[in-house]
This record gives sequence, C-alpha cells and structure tokens, in this order.
Amino acid sequence: MLKPGNERITTEDEFLRVLSVAQSAAAKVDGLLTERECYILVLLAVCPTVEGEVLEIGSFKGLSTVLLATALEFTNDPRLHACDPWAAAEAHGATNPTNDETFRIFQESLARTGVSERVTIHRKLSSDLAVGWDRPLRLLWIDGDHSVAGASEDFEHFSQHVVPGGIVAFHDVLHFHPGPSQVFATRVLLSDEWGACGICGSIGWAQKARDRSEVLRNRELKLRLLRRLMPVVDCTAFERPVNGWHKLRYKFRRSLVPRSAPKYSAFGSLVGYRAAG
Ligand SMILES: C[S@@+](CC[C@H](N)C(=O)[O-])C[C@H]1O[C@@H](n2cnc3c(N)ncnc32)[C@H](O)[C@@H]1O
Repeated sequence: MLKPGNERITTEDEFLRVLSVAQSAAAKVDGLLTERECYILVLLAVCPTVEGEVLEIGSFKGLSTVLLATALEFTNDPRLHACDPWAAAEAHGATNPTNDETFRIFQESLARTGVSERVTIHRKLSSDLAVGWDRPLRLLWIDGDHSVAGASEDFEHFSQHVVPGGIVAFHDVLHFHPGPSQVFATRVLLSDEWGACGICGSIGWAQKARDRSEVLRNRELKLRLLRRLMPVVDCTAFERPVNGWHKLRYKFRRSLVPRSAPKYSAFGSLVGYRAAG
C-alpha cells in the first residue's frame, strides 16, 4: 500500500488512491476547481518528469495549494512554493479580491489539512518574487493575474526557470478571462520550446521539450489543440467582454476544444514519466 514518503507511484490504481486522498483534503477548502482540474493537477504533481521545485502563482484560500501539497507528499520532494500578495488583488487584474482575512483563511486551510510545513509562502506579487528567483522548476502552476499582461508577465518571468522536461500549467484557458488562453496559445502552443501538451477541464499544460525530437514529435498535437483554442482566444481578444449572444458563441467554440482527462499511463507515455506502468 502506497504511503506518504519516499515512494513513487507506479500504477494507475496507486495514482487513483493518491488522487482520492488529495481530493478529500481539498474538499475541506473553499475555492473553484472542477473534478477534471483536480485530476490533472494531481497527475502533474505526482509524475515528476525531472528534478526541480513546484511553484504556484495565485493561491487565494488554498484550494490548489492543499491539493498539490497533499499529492506531493507521495513524491520524493514534497515542497511547494505558494505566491500571492493577498492584498487588493483586483488592482492587479485578478479574479478574486484578497486581503488579510483571505490570508488568514489560507493559513487555516493549510493547518487544517496538515500541509503547512511543506508549503513555503511568498506573500508578494509574482513580479516581486521573480526578482532574484533562481530555483529550477519542474512544475509552474499559473493561477494569478488573469489579464493578458499579468499572465504574460508570469510566463515571461518564470518559464525560463522551468527545466527541460518540466511542465507549465495555466488555469482558466477555457474561461472568459483573456490572459491564460492567449498566452497558452501564442507563447506555448506556437513555440518550439514546448512539446507534449493538453487541456484538461480548463487547465492548459505543456512540457518544455528536452530536445528537438520532442518538439517535432509533438508538433501535430500542438497544432490540433491550437486550431481548437484560437476561436476561443478570438472571443476574448482585446479584453472583449463575454456576454449576450457573444457568450453563446464563446460557449459553442469552447465546446469544440478537447479537454478530457488523460489516463495515468497515457500521460506517462506522453511526457516520458518512467515510473508509469
Ligand atoms: C483565481 S485565484 C487563485 C485560486 C487558487 N489557485 C485556488 O485554487 O483556489 C487568483 C489569485 O491570484 C492572486 N494574484 C493576483 N495577482 C497576482 C500577482 N501579480 N501575483 C501573485 N498572485 C496574484 C490573487 O490574490 C488571488 O488570490
């Protein structure tokens, strides 16, 4: 039976057990993540394709923080960095305003689920954290400022620290906010730096290619996803509000984007996670 500690998940059943443990912990925290989104976050957390640290930008009340931190306990390196200013976030183009009270709830969420010791809290804007950041990342989870400028800046500042084989993931690439979808489409899917990729729920993820062959092997996959995502990006371009008939059009286009959850073994093969059975 797999326990927290230095063991690696090697089978689909083990993965599903860890997913269930992480989801039970997350159920104690307020926030908005769908079942598919929890699934892919846990999958990204427990399949360490390379050595490196895990950074979350945008923690709010701690839902994804608790989910990730609980899942990371089943890997060799359970540490998680969480960055959020918890201060008048609407001023920074974010979706959820935060303050001291939100920070208190966040801390309580970590304490209640027993993950406090494993989470390094950076109470500051991601742009301030970026100054002097020099740690290699194996997983960069971007869920902070959802404006085009904010999402671009987070990607710009931190994707350079994602090591080849590591992964970037954006929340809300299929939501009305313009930043995540635009940055994921133009900076990731259209870039030769990234290889394997997918969208699960509203989370877009991609792996930094380790070599040219990974870029070439995944080109068609990226283009297929891009073709489906661009009509969604078009709907929110230039921060156009999504309402009325326009909202119906947005939803129709979004319904055409593939976003199902990959099986543990299929994901392992796609990203070259060697422990996948
Ligand atoms: C959508 S919420 C995050 C939700 C969280 N990941 C969860 O699972 O519940 C967005 C968060 O990003 C934070 N934020 C906004 N701008 C930011 C920035 N520039 N740097 C870091 N965090 C930021 C906000 O304070 C807010 O808590």
